[in-house]
Amino acid sequence: MDQHKAPLFDMLKQYHMGQHASFHVPGHKFGLDLNKDERYYFEQIMKIDYTEITGLDDLHDPQSIIKAALELAADCFGAEQSYFLINGSTVGNLAMILSVCEREDIIIVQRNVHKSIINGLVLAEAKAVFLPPNIDPKTGLDLGVSINKLQEALVQYPDAKAVLLTNPNYYGIGMKLKRLVDLVHGYHIPILIDEAHGAHYGFHPKLPDSSLSCGVDAVVQSTHKMLTSMTMSGMLHVQGNMINRERLHRFLTMLQSSSPSYPLMASLDISRRWISTKGRESLSKVQSIILTFKKEMEILSWFEIMDITQDFGKDYTQDPFKILIHDLTETLSGYDLQASLEIRGCMIEMADPKFILIVCSASTIEDDMNKLLKALKDISVHFNLKKKELGKNITNICNEMAITNLSPPVKMENHFENTKVVSLDEALNSRSAELIIPYPPGIPLLYQGETITNEMILKIKQYIDSGAHFQGSKKIVNHKISILN
Ligand SMILES: Cc1ncc(COP(=O)(O)O)c(C=O)c1O
Repeated sequence: MDQHKAPLFDMLKQYHMGQHASFHVPGHKFGLDLNKDERYYFEQIMKIDYTEITGLDDLHDPQSIIKAALELAADCFGAEQSYFLINGSTVGNLAMILSVCEREDIIIVQRNVHKSIINGLVLAEAKAVFLPPNIDPKTGLDLGVSINKLQEALVQYPDAKAVLLTNPNYYGIGMKLKRLVDLVHGYHIPILIDEAHGAHYGFHPKLPDSSLSCGVDAVVQSTHKMLTSMTMSGMLHVQGNMINRERLHRFLTMLQSSSPSYPLMASLDISRRWISTKGRESLSKVQSIILTFKKEMEILSWFEIMDITQDFGKDYTQDPFKILIHDLTETLSGYDLQASLEIRGCMIEMADPKFILIVCSASTIEDDMNKLLKALKDISVHFNLKKKELGKNITNICNEMAITNLSPPVKMENHFENTKVVSLDEALNSRSAELIIPYPPGIPLLYQGETITNEMILKIKQYIDSGAHFQGSKKIVNHKISILN
């Protein structure tokens, strides 16, 4: 297929040039009432903010330009069929889960997943068997699930309808998928991947393989995260005959807006064109910028840049575009380092109790990496890091707190009644009525309905003490939690 084409974007341009009189929504009529200041930012984008008028196709029943754009996307990413998402991977995860699970069905799910997966399980009223991820003993970071744990779950739950994993995780750490896919397919069920952070995988020899090339059945990608489309846009891809596409399409139609944004969809179209025609070159260029940055960082030896593939290269992968940095002197927590960088003009993706996460992409520029380097040098001087003794324990989250067993099937439900608020210590052995999610990364520490163990309480306290922000639950920072009566 001719990947230089962008049928959806081209048609929007053509319609804009046609300058027709608009007797249709949206009411802004291509931004006519914007004031000068607003116009500066919004004018261009509003010019192509169309809707499903004649000739512009329909996302929910694609027949012409959207169909052509989707076929190009499928060709580019190696899928049999692709779908555009205009509510990010969030909606893709919801639809993907609903397409394989009915009420009370069992689904095997990696424990450390994004909340959209938990919400999908709640909507599907499914029962999740949670697979604990392996933990890197050095950093305490989640590596991904082991093949043995996955096999244990498949043997124990032969009725499971699917396996759902996240690859890579927010930190860019992932699993080598091929063996896991073959194992799951041996049980004749589909394997689904939340590849929100890996839309660029497979487009460069130095990047890990894409999920689709490893044979997964359905994959969700936030094209806006590691590729170049606009925020909220993403894709869902399928291949093989294990996913009921009619069901998937029905749920996407139910969950996505009936007025999907054309700028978002067109940004997916041009992002796909870019990665397939220019991506590899840009990915190479930025990788060499990152290597130079890492080399320069060697003189700041109190900052460690983590490389999990050194120890686990055989089974796990690390995204070279994500840089995880830690202060070895233990003077600055991840959150302190984030704040220090921000006042020096470097906004970063995320911090946790120990690490900061720097996210680069194929569009990262050298000047920004130099600015980051300069800021880290400045922070070193400011806090006298050079002179400080290095800490011994760099572990992020204590290993003793790691959960290592498969969970029993947990029915995921929202709890609005028959709950009470108690202190975290009093909550021991009760069932949580809420999700406890430090954000970012948005990965729950505790699920609703789950029994609260001492390990979990310690882990939550560790996050609170290090200044984590919790989404939804304001009381948790005051050591209070809702439990089921
Ligand atoms: C692993 C994972 N999956 C899914 C999502 C949701 O993605 P989106 O923001 O595109 O809806 C996120 C968001 O951060 C994520 O980290």
